[in-house]
Amino acid sequence: MKGSLFLCLVLVFISCLKKDVVSQKYLNFDKNYVVMSSQDHVLRLNGGTEAQLTLDQAGGGAFQSLLKYGSGYFEMQIKLPSNHSPGVLHSDIGSDNVHDEIDFEFLGTDGPSYILQTNVFADDVGGREERLHLWFDPTLAFHNYGILWNSHQIVFFVDQVPIRVFKNLTSIGGRYPSQGMLVQGSIWNGEGWASNGRKVDWSQAPFQANYKSFGILGCQIGNQCDSQTLPWNNQDKWELNPKQQSDYENVKRKYVYDTYCLSPRGKNYRECHP
Ligand SMILES: *[C@@H]1O[C@H](CO)[C@@H](O)[C@H](O)[C@H]1NC(C)=O
Repeated sequence: MKGSLFLCLVLVFISCLKKDVVSQKYLNFDKNYVVMSSQDHVLRLNGGTEAQLTLDQAGGGAFQSLLKYGSGYFEMQIKLPSNHSPGVLHSDIGSDNVHDEIDFEFLGTDGPSYILQTNVFADDVGGREERLHLWFDPTLAFHNYGILWNSHQIVFFVDQVPIRVFKNLTSIGGRYPSQGMLVQGSIWNGEGWASNGRKVDWSQAPFQANYKSFGILGCQIGNQCDSQTLPWNNQDKWELNPKQQSDYENVKRKYVYDTYCLSPRGKNYRECHP
């Protein structure tokens, strides 16, 4: 067990238009994103098609999208630091005013497995943490982390496998993110946060996480973001398909080990007793 840190990651909306996905994959970082914290902690690689975020004692790198989105399917490829630190790779889409957020957070290792935490904030209410053990080592190669967000459901994907589904249950009193979201990525020191008091071992620094796939094909806020002509809003994206459903059941059975719905506070969340 070394230190703990957070690598914030990104959520990128990508449409399901196949020909676009290919070109979006190699899009330049600066086309859709801007560096938020310290230019010298965000390094462009491969002509700007890849970015490397660094965390050291001076701070961590962070970036966010130039625009805000209101729906989409977004995906980014990430490779966690190879120096095997129990890190948190934290990926979120956040909004400015009322706090809505949909995020991936990498909480480092727990024995041999890496922990991925997801959370959903709606109307400034979060606390919807869910944790699972990844079935691969995320430091060895790039993997895809994606989020579908339409007016019916939010689905978190890891390598196209659904790992979490959050339904729009506002009609029965649930909350659901509705604010325009920025796509953000960062790596940060998560000491004292989700680290069970473990400290960052700075002798292992710098910690470097790599990001690719900077295409964003979400719906820019202010447009008709619930339009069914957008591929991610299509009726076949309102629910998981049978293959996705069985993959999801498998993930829940084998890898998910902690969810807020099973904690005492679960009783306060409508979606925990639909
Ligand atoms: C959630 O679903 C309701 C219908 O049940 C719809 O009116 C509302 O716009 C949806 N919310 C969002 C943010 O899409």
